[in-house]
Amino acid sequence: MIVYLIGFMGSGKSTFGRRMASRSGWKFEDLDSLIENVEGRPVRDIFKESGEDYFREVEATALRNIPEGDNIVIACGGGTPCYKDNMAFMNRAGVTVYLKHDAATLTGRLTNARKVRPLLEGMDRGEMGKYINTKLAEREEWYNKAQLIIDGLKADPGKLMDILLFRPPYDNEPGQY
Ligand code: S3P
Repeated sequence: MIVYLIGFMGSGKSTFGRRMASRSGWKFEDLDSLIENVEGRPVRDIFKESGEDYFREVEATALRNIPEGDNIVIACGGGTPCYKDNMAFMNRAGVTVYLKHDAATLTGRLTNARKVRPLLEGMDRGEMGKYINTKLAEREEWYNKAQLIIDGLKADPGKLMDILLFRPPYDNEPGQY
């Protein structure tokens, strides 16, 4: 089974995903790292040198190249579900989990992490707050198609893994886990 963790930048997908995987002996991969391995350069350079459209192409390809059959948790990039029909693909190929946070929480969490995120580079805190508000509202259209929506502040990685393994089907109630 493939579990796809989705959510905005700064929602803690990688940390949460690593914890889920280590609880259950599953593999963990970060989609951005897979892309960086293929491209031989950081995501930031891919954006700068080749542009976002190119990044979205390689992102969609990397997503589809993850072998089915593995038990694996994938931390997706914040934009992954919103391009190239990726959300429909993930909902067919595995289980999607939206790690949900509100815009204010995300703005706080991203304040110190702007430099490594090409989409936020050069923004001051005010600009970033506005950007996150707008972008999150746009992106939730895709994020809300997840099979499970969980409250990022309350969620417990081990408990979520148990639910995924032992208690399907999923009923899409935010905050329940
Ligand atoms: C992006 C999020 C990033 C990375 C790229 C684009 C986005 O991943 O894929 O910078 O469009 O939100 P994280 O969510 O891991 O920061």
